[in-house]
Amino acid sequence: MQDVMDIEVKPLSSNCGAEILGVDLSKELSKAVIDKIKQAWLDHLVIVIRDQKIDQEQQLRFAAHFGPLGERKKAPDALAARTEGIYQTDKRVLLVSNIKVDGKSVGAFGDGDMWFHIDSGYAEKPYNYTFLYAVELPKTGGNTLFSNMYNAYNALSTEMKQKLAGKKALHIHEYKRSERVDLKEDLSGSPHYFHPVFATHPQTKRKSLFVDRLMTRRIEGLPLAESEAILEQLYEIGERKEFLYEHEWRLGDVVAWDNRCTIHARTWFDPAERRLLRRCAIDGAPIYE
Ligand code: OGA
Ligand code: MN
Repeated sequence: MQDVMDIEVKPLSSNCGAEILGVDLSKELSKAVIDKIKQAWLDHLVIVIRDQKIDQEQQLRFAAHFGPLGERKKAPDALAARTEGIYQTDKRVLLVSNIKVDGKSVGAFGDGDMWFHIDSGYAEKPYNYTFLYAVELPKTGGNTLFSNMYNAYNALSTEMKQKLAGKKALHIHEYKRSERVDLKEDLSGSPHYFHPVFATHPQTKRKSLFVDRLMTRRIEGLPLAESEAILEQLYEIGERKEFLYEHEWRLGDVVAWDNRCTIHARTWFDPAERRLLRRCAIDGAPIYE
């Protein structure tokens, strides 16, 4: 059993992100170690654990310390990977990959960049946490960016905070990854949900801005033009460089984030290169202001 004394928490930026050193996720972790990680996670929003050699079961065992493992919300059969080492049918695991076998994707989220988003923000109960483990990586690119949305909330003017207090916004599932949903389309086939614009984190009790460019599409109770103008401002504040941590992946990295107080995005990478991350998530709860 690893000793909590061996664990070190090293901030990766002044905005969010901390590396946890001295843990081996292939082994069972003590309660003291898990508690230390929980506290680091509350403080830093995104945790990074490098140089891990873990199989799927070990990843799920680690994640399960932080709550009930979520099942994929969409199209599990269509997204089940179809081949050899990356064969995947467990509903608690999603492969994030651009790899194709016989012309068919083995995973989700394909090639290219992804706009900032909250995972399953379109659901009534968005995931509390998401975990990614790097299995195959391109030489460069495909970095994951995280933003501290407590800071984004704090950066809003008093007037904006007052204006949006008590308001909800519509989050719509968007599978295109770098485009907004057309509000004129029929939304009945797209999962969607209204969440408060400001979310109070159940543990830290801090308020964050709960809005993202990819899926937050409309503020309830405002004329469309005003909603559009305000949302554009909110996206920009959330994506300010001064709130970001950019993760450059290395093989064996585990990166996990708290979806209630961060948004994340992905930078472009060469589609001729293979990228494969193993993902799992923890079920969440309704969001309250
Ligand atoms: C995700 C995600 C980003 C990436 O798995 O939810 O947004 O870098 N992934 O692939
Ligand atoms: Mn995501």
